[in-house]
Amino acid sequence: ERVCLAYSGGLDTSTILKWLVLQGYEVVCFLGDCGQEEDFDAVKEKALKLGAEKMVIENVQQELIDDLVWPAIQCNAIYEGQYLLGTSLARPVLARAMVQVAKDNNCTILSHGCTGKGNDQVRFELAWKACDPKLKILAPWRIPAFFNRFQGRADLLKFAEEQNIPVSSTPKAPWSMDDNIIHCSYEAGILEQTDMEPPKDMWKRTVDPLDAPNEPTRFTVHFAEGVPVKLEVGGKAVTGSLEIFKEANELGRANGIGREDIVESRFIGLKSRGCYDTPGLTILRKLHLNLEGLVMDSKVRIIRDRLSEDWAQCIYNGMYFTPEREFVQQSIAFSQKQVDGKVEALAYKGNVIIVGRSSETSNLYSEEESSMDTLDMDWSVEDTTGFINVNAIRIAKYGERKIRDGEP
Ligand code: ARG
Ligand code: SIN
Repeated sequence: ERVCLAYSGGLDTSTILKWLVLQGYEVVCFLGDCGQEEDFDAVKEKALKLGAEKMVIENVQQELIDDLVWPAIQCNAIYEGQYLLGTSLARPVLARAMVQVAKDNNCTILSHGCTGKGNDQVRFELAWKACDPKLKILAPWRIPAFFNRFQGRADLLKFAEEQNIPVSSTPKAPWSMDDNIIHCSYEAGILEQTDMEPPKDMWKRTVDPLDAPNEPTRFTVHFAEGVPVKLEVGGKAVTGSLEIFKEANELGRANGIGREDIVESRFIGLKSRGCYDTPGLTILRKLHLNLEGLVMDSKVRIIRDRLSEDWAQCIYNGMYFTPEREFVQQSIAFSQKQVDGKVEALAYKGNVIIVGRSSETSNLYSEEESSMDTLDMDWSVEDTTGFINVNAIRIAKYGERKIRDGEP
């Protein structure tokens, strides 16, 4: 049978590749280019050397931005108030592309190198089930014949030596990383001690805010229907979703923006410590949220904020290809029809400092109406007396009862 394996070139997936070949499977390797730092030619060469029939590398950056990152900005997505979902957002795009590669190459089985304790196994497998329920799934880290044989890194290294699997000569970082155009994540290894400060040289995507320039960088982002359409910085104007996102990443990198060090709740119930540097998305999300203050209806906003939570849950838990995600996302997109305008801000030593916003289309904010200095409007301040009196009906009853019963 033919297996399509998500292959990264690392020790784990190289071991899995060789193990599958030794079991008699024909293996087609797949690697999605999500913007990670990688020598793709070297990975391909390694896969073929280890016995893969073929290695398919596909650039999925544009769909990642358009299909996942832009909706994440529209709903200000965040998980447990701290994680911008950098890894989770890439999974649906990768899973979908991989199913297509499997079909194109007559594979009947999909395989990955995710551990049996994490989120990624759930995300890949649920997405694969939705994209083609007929394909079988083989998760070596959950198969006794595999995990009993490879109980730790020492076993993997021993197997690598026996099977001539090249092992990178640069010493492995004492944590695991997953990087893409959105972020780099760091977890496991020494980071499992939740009170241990990460070493200064761990962070790959941002300079240390303490070392960032002493002068702020001024920039402006224009939004249409809740997504960035232009970024202006230093006399340059960038358009196109992927280009804007890359420019925001550079702005954030240089100014040390978007570092998070958290403990999060994995879907399967474990807690895990993760560090993330997410420069561009941190910036664009914050500016989007600020623009909504100017242009979004207050009641729509309350409901949309609840849906944002649902959308983030769907993404984190691997429920992208689901009816509930589709439903929630359509509602969120509707809420963004009026989110047009621009926001000006400063990037400065780890901070995004907003200095102004405006919209040419929204009529919700009126300087005259809100002003403390004029009474020129279509309604009278006297009307507000009735507004307060009516709102006070039940509140007065609550107060009366408290006083009657002597409650504090
Ligand atoms: N904890 C994060 C998440 O679940 C990051 C996972 C990183 N994945 C990885 N295979 N190293 O989204
Ligand atoms: C893994 O366990 O394979 C990586 C971490 C995660 O998926 O949460």
